[in-house]
Amino acid sequence: MKKKENEKLNLFLLLKTITPKIIRISPVYFWIAVAISIIHGLFWGFDILVRQYFFDATASFVGKTAEFRSVLLAFAALAFTAVMTQLLNGISNYMWYVLNMRKMQMFRFEINARIRRLSPEVFENTETLDDINKAGMGAGAAVELFAVIEIILCFYLPYFLFVGWYLFSLKPLFLLTIVIIFIPTALTQLIRAKVFSKLEDESAPKRREYEYYEKAVADREYLKETRLLGGFAYFKEKFSESYRLCLKLRMRAEFRSSLFELSMNVITILGYFGILYMLFTALMAGEITVGAFAAVFANMGMLYSIMAEVVQMHIGRLAQNFGATINYVRFLELPERSGEIKKAPAWGDITFQDVTYSYPNTERPALSHVSFTLRRGETLAIVGENGSGKSTLVRLLSGLYLPTEGRVLHNGVDTREIDPEALYQGTTAVFQKYQRYQMTLRENLAISDTAKQADSAQLEEICKMAGCDSADASFTNGYDTMLSREFDGVDLSGGQWQRVAIARGFYRNHNLIILDEPTAAIDPYEETRVYNRFAELSREKSAVIVTHRIGSVRLADRILVMQDGHAVQLGTHEELVQKEGEYRRLWEAQEQWYKENPEQETDAVSVN
Ligand SMILES: Nc1ncnc2c1ncn2[C@@H]1O[C@H](COP(=O)(O)OP(=O)(O)OP(=O)(O)O)[C@@H](O)[C@H]1O
Ligand SMILES: [Mg+2]
Repeated sequence: MKKKENEKLNLFLLLKTITPKIIRISPVYFWIAVAISIIHGLFWGFDILVRQYFFDATASFVGKTAEFRSVLLAFAALAFTAVMTQLLNGISNYMWYVLNMRKMQMFRFEINARIRRLSPEVFENTETLDDINKAGMGAGAAVELFAVIEIILCFYLPYFLFVGWYLFSLKPLFLLTIVIIFIPTALTQLIRAKVFSKLEDESAPKRREYEYYEKAVADREYLKETRLLGGFAYFKEKFSESYRLCLKLRMRAEFRSSLFELSMNVITILGYFGILYMLFTALMAGEITVGAFAAVFANMGMLYSIMAEVVQMHIGRLAQNFGATINYVRFLELPERSGEIKKAPAWGDITFQDVTYSYPNTERPALSHVSFTLRRGETLAIVGENGSGKSTLVRLLSGLYLPTEGRVLHNGVDTREIDPEALYQGTTAVFQKYQRYQMTLRENLAISDTAKQADSAQLEEICKMAGCDSADASFTNGYDTMLSREFDGVDLSGGQWQRVAIARGFYRNHNLIILDEPTAAIDPYEETRVYNRFAELSREKSAVIVTHRIGSVRLADRILVMQDGHAVQLGTHEELVQKEGEYRRLWEAQEQWYKENPEQETDAVSVN
């Protein structure tokens, strides 16, 4: 896999990108939570000071140099600190919890809104697709990551600053205490971060593999074919292979970081005894009071466990979430499509000017130097062998994809300059890989134009044209039939689904309609019928039909012939049949078919 740019993406950059978003959710609430956390942290630090007072007061009282009142006062301060730490703990936990929930909600909404604005081409690139698929998980990780950063900055830092100040004021050398505890634990986590971010990079493609193989074995869509064709064992084996590899990588990472952690812990323990020795000699030399000795000694355990908590639990979580958060940040950086021109140009010709298109990360262009004009109101058929570039061409024609080189002009305006929302407004399409929405029949149709009120008469007309009859026995509840077995509805046959998809395409208000072979599962006669009705409807509109069947080709005004990414011929059926070339070759292939099936009508014959 190509090295991604996560090296450049450091924690600082991450903070810079995401912090303003978090504060913006609710600035007042955020700053109150910050203030409460800081006070909370200071109270924890305060504990050590109050303990010293308490021990000193008690020692003085025992030595008869102080009154019982001062012991009581110190005790009250100790109790107050204990109560306050618990109270502030509860309040700040609750406040951060609520804020985290709101962060998650905001990130989720933002992901959805952003996916809509992304350039469709980013979905063709496996690397960026990874970032898109993991954006949701990455957002969860970002919330965790920031929760950790917030708690470190707003709670632990004030605590350590206070304790640091206290130790320093006792004896500057005591500051070493914090350093001795901190360095080995921090080093451990630094290594951990490195190991896990490397693991994430190495295992992501393998994980994608095994998730796919698992789907091929267990997913309903795949199940029948995989079982019947005997692919089950094959996919299972593939799955285990990738899964095992992933596991091996993970175990290796865990082993390495654990080994390092263990050796660092030994050093920490040695440091702990060093500190004790330091304290003892200071007490003997009369540099600190008995109270200070006792307070530091009593708080050593706490200092150590808080440090371990920060570094192992929080910084460990930080490191693990960092990898996934990168997916989210990279997702935020994916190119969005927008155009200077916010209003669609008046409906007119669509011109391809020397257009070349290559899919991301591919060497060979799918389209090479294609030039032609789809005239306003014209019906154009596109024919050509599999892989000749037909589907790619219609994606560029609709403006869904932008050319790598050359220009596609909608009434003279470059598709690059038009805002996608405006660009798609007058276009409808039924794609080769159409969707089966798990919703009612009505919703399946109306989804293509949600601005329209779906009145039954109109639905009826559209359905008739696409040859899908809501009165059909399959639609047990008319337009309100749920088309999904998973949601207690019915399932349709492949051909029925195609008709629904075609009806959906027709339903949308449009000037241009694109049909990219949506009729493969419909018999040739029915296809011709659908297309004839469609031609009537589309008389004023521009239409592009990608098809292999000559019956549909013939109803087009002109035919564009694709071969190996090039537009090799353009003309009417009569013109093209006369000439030597790809179209004649395709035509003759079907003529042969016609001779062998004399009882069939020419209209229903396939071109290829
Ligand atoms: N998402 C993609 N990423 C990379 N290459 C692609 C992608 N989609 C298509 N291609 C390549 O682009 C070329 C043209 O594909 P396209 O789907 O446009 O052909 P087509 O004429 O529509 O074929 P068919 O008749 O099978 O639908 C093919 O060589 C194909 O391998
Ligand atoms: Mg295609």
